Amino acid sequence: MAQTKTEGPLARLVIHDLAHRNGPAEFAADVRRGLSSNPKQLFPKYLYDSLGSRLFDAICHVDEYYPTRAENEILTRHAEEMVAGIPDCRTLIELGSGSAEKTRSIIEALLLHQTELLFIPVDISASALEKSSRTLLAAYPALRIEAYAADYLEGLAAMQPLAPGPALMLFLGSNIGNFEKAEALTFLRAIRRMLRPGDALLLGADLKKDRATLEAAYNDALGVTRAFIVNELARINRELGGNFDLWAFGLRSVYNESAGCVEVFLESLRSQLVTISGLKLSITFQAGELIHMEHCYKFDVDGLSALGLQSGFRLERTWLDERQRFSSNLFRAADS
Ligand SMILES: C[S@@+](CC[C@H](N)C(=O)[O-])C[C@H]1O[C@@H](n2cnc3c(N)ncnc32)[C@H](O)[C@@H]1O
Repeated sequence: MAQTKTEGPLARLVIHDLAHRNGPAEFAADVRRGLSSNPKQLFPKYLYDSLGSRLFDAICHVDEYYPTRAENEILTRHAEEMVAGIPDCRTLIELGSGSAEKTRSIIEALLLHQTELLFIPVDISASALEKSSRTLLAAYPALRIEAYAADYLEGLAAMQPLAPGPALMLFLGSNIGNFEKAEALTFLRAIRRMLRPGDALLLGADLKKDRATLEAAYNDALGVTRAFIVNELARINRELGGNFDLWAFGLRSVYNESAGCVEVFLESLRSQLVTISGLKLSITFQAGELIHMEHCYKFDVDGLSALGLQSGFRLERTWLDERQRFSSNLFRAADS
C-alpha cells in the first residue's frame, strides 16, 4: 500500500493511496464492461478524477444545484446538536469526503468539547483528498488525518480497528442515492460492521420533490453538469486512448417518478464509431442512443428509517433545511 507521510505542519497527515495501485486496471475493465453492455453504461465513481472533482465543486455553486447549499444550511445550524449525542467522540470517519467543506461544521462542533480529533476521510479522488486534508490541517491544529484514497468499501476494509471511544461516520451529499436499493443495503451493512453498538452515522439524503427542480439540478443552464459528466468520456480519451468527440454527446437528466430517481444519461447526437486504442475496442453508437451515467435516488424519511432498520441502525433524529429539500439523518448503530 502506497503511504505518504509528510514533515512540518503536515506531520499530522497520513494518506494511504489504494486508488493509485488498483485504479487504472479497474477503470479499464469497467469501461470495457460498461460500453460492451446493452444498454451501455459507465460508472459514476469514475467521474471524479482530478478535473472531475473540481467540476463537481463548481456544480455546488450553480443556482440549480440546491443539495449542497441545503445540506450546508442544516449542518451550519445543527452541528452542535448533532454531536451532542456522541460525547467524547474522538474518531470522525467520512466516506466520499470530496472538498470536505461541509465537514468543517461537524469538526468545529466536536472541537468545542475536546482538544484532539482523528479524521479518517475516504475518497476515490486522491487529488480532492490531498487538497482537502491540507486545508483542514491548516485550519485545525487539533486535527490528525488518516486518509484513504480508495473506493468506499476498499477504504473501510483497509482501516485499522477503531480506537476506543465513540465514533461518528459521515456519508453526506446524498451519495447514498447513487446506489440501487440492494447495493445501498449492502453498503450500509458494511458500515454497520465497521462500527460498534452506540456509534453514529450521519447520512445526508436528498428528498423527493417536483420534477422541474430535480431535472434542473442535474442539467443546469450554464452547462457545468454537462462538463462534469462528459469529463468521463474525456477521461477515457486521456487515460485509455479513446477518440470520443465530446461535442457529439448531449446530457439528458430525467426524473423517473415511480422509481424516485433522477437518471443521468449521455445521448449520442449522431451515429458514430468510437475507438479506444488502450482497450483494442471499437464501439458503435446509433443516433439517440444513451449511455447511463448515474442514478440519483431521492428519499423520504420513512424510507430512510426502513433502510436503516434493515442494516442495523436506528434512526434517532432527522433535520431538514428551511425549504424542506434535504435531510440530515442521525442513525445509531443498534446492538448486533
Ligand atoms: C457528490 S460528491 C460529494 C462530495 C461531498 N461529500 C459533498 O457532500 O459535497 C461525491 C464524492 O464521493 C467520491 N466518490 C464517489 N464514488 C466513490 C466511491 N465509489 N468510493 C469512494 N469515493 C467515491 C467522489 O470522489 C466525491 O468526492
